[in-house]
Amino acid sequence: MEKKLSSVAKAFTPSPIQELSHLAQRCNAINLAEGFPDFPAPPHIKNAAVSAINSDFNQYRHVQGICDHLAIMAKKMHGLDVDPLTDIAICCGQTEAFAAAVFAIIDQGDEVILFDPSYETYEGCITMARGIPVFVALDPPHWTLDPNKLMQSITGRTKAIVLNSPQNPTGKVFTKDALETIAEVCCRRDCLAITDEVYEHITFDNEKHISLASFTGMQERTIITSSLSKTFCVTGWRVGWAIAPAVIASAIKNIHVKITDSAPAPFQEAALTALRSPPEYFESLRRDYELKRDYIVKFLAGVGFKIQFKPQGSFFLFAEIPESCPLSDVEYVTELIKQAGVVAVPGRGFFHKKNFSQEDCSYQNRYIRFAFCKSDATLAAAAQKLGELSEASGCLKFHSFD
Ligand SMILES: Cc1ncc(COP(=O)(O)O)c(C=O)c1O
Repeated sequence: MEKKLSSVAKAFTPSPIQELSHLAQRCNAINLAEGFPDFPAPPHIKNAAVSAINSDFNQYRHVQGICDHLAIMAKKMHGLDVDPLTDIAICCGQTEAFAAAVFAIIDQGDEVILFDPSYETYEGCITMARGIPVFVALDPPHWTLDPNKLMQSITGRTKAIVLNSPQNPTGKVFTKDALETIAEVCCRRDCLAITDEVYEHITFDNEKHISLASFTGMQERTIITSSLSKTFCVTGWRVGWAIAPAVIASAIKNIHVKITDSAPAPFQEAALTALRSPPEYFESLRRDYELKRDYIVKFLAGVGFKIQFKPQGSFFLFAEIPESCPLSDVEYVTELIKQAGVVAVPGRGFFHKKNFSQEDCSYQNRYIRFAFCKSDATLAAAAQKLGELSEASGCLKFHSFD
């Protein structure tokens, strides 16, 4: 029967990381792996969804008010002139918006630049569309973009550059200079950009999110994708969007209709309430996550992790395994689960080694991603478990490696 599968399906196999998830479940480990909150969504948003269902917004639906509001926000936040009638497609989360964007612009053999490390789903979408992902390594420990590396990766077949800022897994917010470099390359080499801005409202230390689309010459070549998921603690609602020049937005809408028809109607209605939340909501979101960031940085540094880069946004910390520890990332997480009862994600899943064999890639097995979008009680419990396993010197001490 396997012979009947498409080449795309055969290429997507379960990763070793999924086995770790099963181990974590068996050990009932505290979950700092998954990128979604374990605390409730805001009541005003939940009430809006309940009320939408009771008001019978239960059929296929396009809520134009979302587009109207997004256009106002794009002007306010980034100075962009967006036509809410033609330039926005509502999709099922950023995930579908991104996939539809890729299918809207990528033909077989088109090359798409991805930064390395990066969120895992981009590569799969690009290969499904028969495009070719080309990875440009960001330099550790600060995940700096080297303009030469970017330039050297551009060819006559480069169709687009994908940018995720604030970034999963590193928590990096790309600097204005780095964004300018990317914008210049796009304009000079006539490339499109697809941005993933799901963490647009989660930035720290007065760091401001700047959309790549706001740079000169970029709005007409950028597809912005984002969603409600992270900002409003509703990853299961599946409401997202793409904002793009009208021709591309229309193509994305057509693809979206073929794949899913429409995003969930009651949650689109509730999205209106969410997006219209007062400024205090967004301020407290940032403040709460900044406190959680500071807490996790402190407790992981306290048990020996090397943290050279403090997240500037998102809700992930990409921590380096202590230098003295001989374990790889997967081995380390296995021991964390078994001995500390805490699960995180081995960093290797975010790297794509194969494309830069000339370089020293040893660092790719040395990182672990911790998600801090968890309640204070969960974070405190994890800190306690790790603390119990750490030596007097403040380093985690796994039993079999004494
Ligand atoms: C960078 C990034 N983009 C997109 C998503 C998924 O967004 P959505 O729930 O809107 O599909 C995630 C979820 O972890 C993410 O980290």
